[in-house]
Amino acid sequence: MRRNLLHFGYKELHYEIREIVAVAEEVASFGRTIYYENIGDPVAKGEFLPAWMKDIIKDALSEDSVYGYAPSKGLKKTREYIASHSHNTTPDDIIFFNGLWEAINKIYGYLDGPSRVLGPSPAYPTHSSSEAVNSGSDHLTYTLDPYNHWNPNLEEIENKVRYNPNIVAILVINPDNPTGAVFDREVLEGIISIAKRYNLFVIFDEIYEKLVFDAKDHILLSEIIGDVPGISMKGVSKELPWPGARCGWIEVYNADKDENFRAYINSIYMSKMLEVCSTTLPQYVIPIIYEDARFAPYLAERIQNYKARAEKVGEVFWRIPGVVYNAPKAAYYVSIVLEPALFDLSRVWPVSNPDLERYIQDKLVNIWAFDKRFCYLLLAHTGICVVPLSGFNALCQGFRMTLLEDDLEKFDFIIHSLEKFIRLIHR
Ligand SMILES: Cc1ncc(COP(=O)(O)O)c(C=O)c1O
Repeated sequence: MRRNLLHFGYKELHYEIREIVAVAEEVASFGRTIYYENIGDPVAKGEFLPAWMKDIIKDALSEDSVYGYAPSKGLKKTREYIASHSHNTTPDDIIFFNGLWEAINKIYGYLDGPSRVLGPSPAYPTHSSSEAVNSGSDHLTYTLDPYNHWNPNLEEIENKVRYNPNIVAILVINPDNPTGAVFDREVLEGIISIAKRYNLFVIFDEIYEKLVFDAKDHILLSEIIGDVPGISMKGVSKELPWPGARCGWIEVYNADKDENFRAYINSIYMSKMLEVCSTTLPQYVIPIIYEDARFAPYLAERIQNYKARAEKVGEVFWRIPGVVYNAPKAAYYVSIVLEPALFDLSRVWPVSNPDLERYIQDKLVNIWAFDKRFCYLLLAHTGICVVPLSGFNALCQGFRMTLLEDDLEKFDFIIHSLEKFIRLIHR
């Protein structure tokens, strides 16, 4: 008899952002037009790299070196460029990965078995799921409070750390996905101070660092880390935006001050070495694109668009009873919390198409989370595809939508259809 093939943590593998697409595709097969508001891929929503950026990439394609392997940590020139624009980092402290996904996976995957990382709830599922898979049990979380601008409670973090000696690190996503929150200096310094007192390291996912609506709001880990060991995660998926490049990197701080942390980072580097390296081309163009005079105005225009759309969402949602709306301060997501006691999902039957109604009713049979039921019903009734917050490992109920739709008429239609649906299910 062959023994079991399954990894002990496989049940923790979830990625609702894409899982809901399978349902949306089924709903579409009944003739419903789908409005995809689920995935944070600007390219999928029609936002393309500007022509000047594509020209830089085309020019790079005529360089023979981009067809070869890069060093395992990444191209030296690019690491030098990044280090020269960061506090606290040398080129040697930077490691490139094939997308931040890979870095996330390795960072959790190379921790000693029982070691745990305390992360936010809600959280980007690649973090929560990878951490949970590697430890074989639910991700350990601290709460981002929708009734307090998505701020965490430092006392809660400290208590969790104090009473669980397996926690070796605290994860912060700043700017945050799914909430769009940007955390204040005090909150971030509070987390660093807890890490210092309990001898932990910190992981800051800063992939949205260049998409902050008001740049002065954003504090980078490198500015406040002091002598605590830490890792910052960055990448090009969101800011160029070139998610298909699968290119991200980590900046490591204070590895020289903690021998065990240094050895752990070295194990991540060694695992990268086994893979040889990350894709060369995107690394090659990073300094050229970032140094181009057109990059800053290009980013400023995108930020302006996201901000204007966020304001539109706010105008509609802040006045609906039972809805908790927090204006995002960065990136292109907004998370809307619904207070389940004030809504009754049984009020929306029937869907106009009986076959679609049967399909969606069958789907709902084993789904108990209020917000997941909400999202499936919303799909069937309006074709709008958003992600339930429970898919982000959240305790609160609600949904995340993107701010990527640049057809303003369509965007208006989407938010007003959402409003109508929410008002319809109000008790
Ligand atoms: C917070 C956060 N980190 C990491 C990633 C993954 O980035 P990459 O495309 O580099 O794998 C995402 C993608 O949505 C994200 O939102």
